[in-house]
Amino acid sequence: MEKFCKQYTIWSETGESEGRPGREDKMSDAAIEVKAAGKPVPVDDTITLEALTRDPYPIYKRLRAETPVVRVPKMNRILLTKWADTKYVKDNPQIFSSNDPITPMHRAFRAHTLMRKDGEAHKCERMAMQGAFSPKVITQDWVPRYEQVAEEYLDRLPRDEVVDLFPMLAAPYAARGLAVLLGTEEASDEEMIRWSQALIDGAGNFGEDEAIFARSEAANDEMDALFTRIEARHREHPNNSAFSVMLNAENPIPLSQIWANIKIAIGGGINEPRDALCTILYGLLSNPDQLERVKANGDWVKAFEEGVRWVAPISVSGRYVLEDTEIRGYHIPAHSTVMTIQASANWDEEVFEDGHLFKVYRESNPHQSFGNGPHFCQGTHVARRAVGQVMLPRIFEKFPNIRLAGDVEWKGWGFRGPINLPVLLG
Ligand code: HEM
Repeated sequence: MEKFCKQYTIWSETGESEGRPGREDKMSDAAIEVKAAGKPVPVDDTITLEALTRDPYPIYKRLRAETPVVRVPKMNRILLTKWADTKYVKDNPQIFSSNDPITPMHRAFRAHTLMRKDGEAHKCERMAMQGAFSPKVITQDWVPRYEQVAEEYLDRLPRDEVVDLFPMLAAPYAARGLAVLLGTEEASDEEMIRWSQALIDGAGNFGEDEAIFARSEAANDEMDALFTRIEARHREHPNNSAFSVMLNAENPIPLSQIWANIKIAIGGGINEPRDALCTILYGLLSNPDQLERVKANGDWVKAFEEGVRWVAPISVSGRYVLEDTEIRGYHIPAHSTVMTIQASANWDEEVFEDGHLFKVYRESNPHQSFGNGPHFCQGTHVARRAVGQVMLPRIFEKFPNIRLAGDVEWKGWGFRGPINLPVLLG
């Protein structure tokens, strides 16, 4: 019998490995003891996904001031926009489960990934990958590789021409960095980017559009074929990549979950470093005084933190409410879904002065762009090093006269960032 994480067998048998919030299975609605009363949550039926995708920040500002806990019937969600509330929800997984049953994630990934699991089942799968994310491995294995990739990709850019850095640098650099970390280097940048987008679109396909699922299905087929091909290499030559670490563990998790969690990393590990890089570059290039100070002090990681605070690459997260509870005196019913809006938390007037401004040298920066609680982003340090420490200084060293050369368009709600970054490289 395959030897894997002993605990896993128990969860598999009880169905918990599917990530189902165990308590929900055992409780009928009638049996739920109403622990919280509270005022009814106010309703806002003016908010649309289109408006949030175009520019959510004026909406967040109004919500923080008027209705920080608000139900949006069109989205079937309760939105939370204050720093204290988004943190509270993520820090309390015993009430707010990560397994939001109304997302189409399972179909998009053909599996239940660690992102939608709770408790020990989540911990077991997260720890299975941890070897690839340790500070020592990042320093010894990944940073030198990222430096090579950064040099190589910067060398490909033409000088004295207007170049869109989004497709020409940010996306492929994020894709290659992820392929190195995961152990999927046989995949091209184009494949990694296409698969990532197909998974994201599938996971957000609330309208159940079959064409979108067809693309995520095709991407799953291609990824499954790749994982089958690379297994022998990782078994024969164990290394520190996430795939290899999981495969060669003493008590490996099931192969199906190894695949699932490599997929969640592909789905969630390209857009954010790509968008973070473009956002930070825009922030620095449109604030030359700050850029000069950052260059003089080598404060690239500080600039990174401010960029991800300013426009959070993952702006929202969903949590499924397991029991009746209260937030800010409002009644949050069991079985509802709350959305923690970290992008709004990062501009909360109670925590940040001038949150709408890019200010590298703000006094403190307790942003929530990497989340909170047990699902805190596992790639935080990798992203910080790859973007902040490796890429940013190299761009300005190679192109000291780089400047913005056109309008920049911003888009997205769940994932948000610039969708182009035209610059003149000199
Ligand atoms: C600037 C870059 C990044 C940002 C802003 C970011 C943001 C986030 C956020 C907000 C979460 C938590 C979601 C939730 O609470 O439901 C998360 C989770 C995660 N991130 Fe990142 N991420 C970044 C880069 C990366 C990279 C490069 C990887 C590499 C694989 C990665 C891997 C993960 C994983 C595996 C999780 C799930 C952790 C868990 O469920 O335990 N992230 N990320």
